[in-house]
Amino acid sequence: MDRYAVMGHPVSHSRSPQIHALFAKATGQLMTYERIDPEPDRFEAAVARFRSEGGKGLNITLPFKERAFALADGQTARARAAGAANTLDFREGQVFADNTDGVGLVRDIVQNQRFMLQQKHILLLGAGGAARGVVLPLLAEQPARLVVANRTAARAFAILSELKASGTITDDLMGRAEACGLEDIPAEPFDVVINATSSSLTGAVPEVPQGVFGPRTLAYDMMYGRGQTPFLKLAQTHGAPYLADGLGMLVEQAAESFYLWRHLLPATAAVLQQLRAELG
Ligand code: ATR
Repeated sequence: MDRYAVMGHPVSHSRSPQIHALFAKATGQLMTYERIDPEPDRFEAAVARFRSEGGKGLNITLPFKERAFALADGQTARARAAGAANTLDFREGQVFADNTDGVGLVRDIVQNQRFMLQQKHILLLGAGGAARGVVLPLLAEQPARLVVANRTAARAFAILSELKASGTITDDLMGRAEACGLEDIPAEPFDVVINATSSSLTGAVPEVPQGVFGPRTLAYDMMYGRGQTPFLKLAQTHGAPYLADGLGMLVEQAAESFYLWRHLLPATAAVLQQLRAELG
């Protein structure tokens, strides 16, 4: 049996074991997938131990994504752009780091919501790890414009300057991105407004001009939970007709990790449907 796990602190809430078990069953893969919760100062040792015991790969969640990136022997461009890894793959005696969060988001928007991003105007709210992980994959969809807006404007500017410095993006795509504070967001309707802030955790919403939601806007919250998130409620109140939470992104990022490890891309619709039903 090939062995995989998700590492985080805490990790008990993680749905990854369930998702990967469903993928393994559907694709006939013989593998186990467990949760590991290392003490924060023991993360690197825990990874080394898992490898030495024959582990094949890991998903990484908070607060270890940057350290997972740093310990790898090689990193994909999308992990370099994020400066963080949510997936480690152990092969040929080496550790490879990838970040599948962005492609998970893009696939959920483009394939599941059937919303093309090419030539669209995208507003990305937030400039923490969640936002950082998705900027390159969003730009790779060739939007007309990507505005990264954050309560602390300097962090939004930092994301873009670090992305540029990472050498993973063309000048053409970089030129489509801009940064600002929440109060400087252009008050015009965006095609897609993505909430990558952690504001929902406290029941708050980022203070954005209500004009960003138009009659054709997709409002996307990277958070999810039982019932509608505060951000999606706000978007709906301001007239956004299309609403999506982050459950689809969760399943799609997992599928991409599974693909990296097993070279098979599992179907996601039934898994998403099951998680949605369980969420109630
Ligand atoms: P994560 O890794 O989940 O993105 P983080 O690095 O702590 O977590 O970042 C949290 C993000 O949510 C930040 O962009 C934060 O804004 P600041 O950089 O100004 O702190 C944003 N955020 C959290 N609560 C918010 C709120 N009530 N309104 C607006 N933005 C908020």
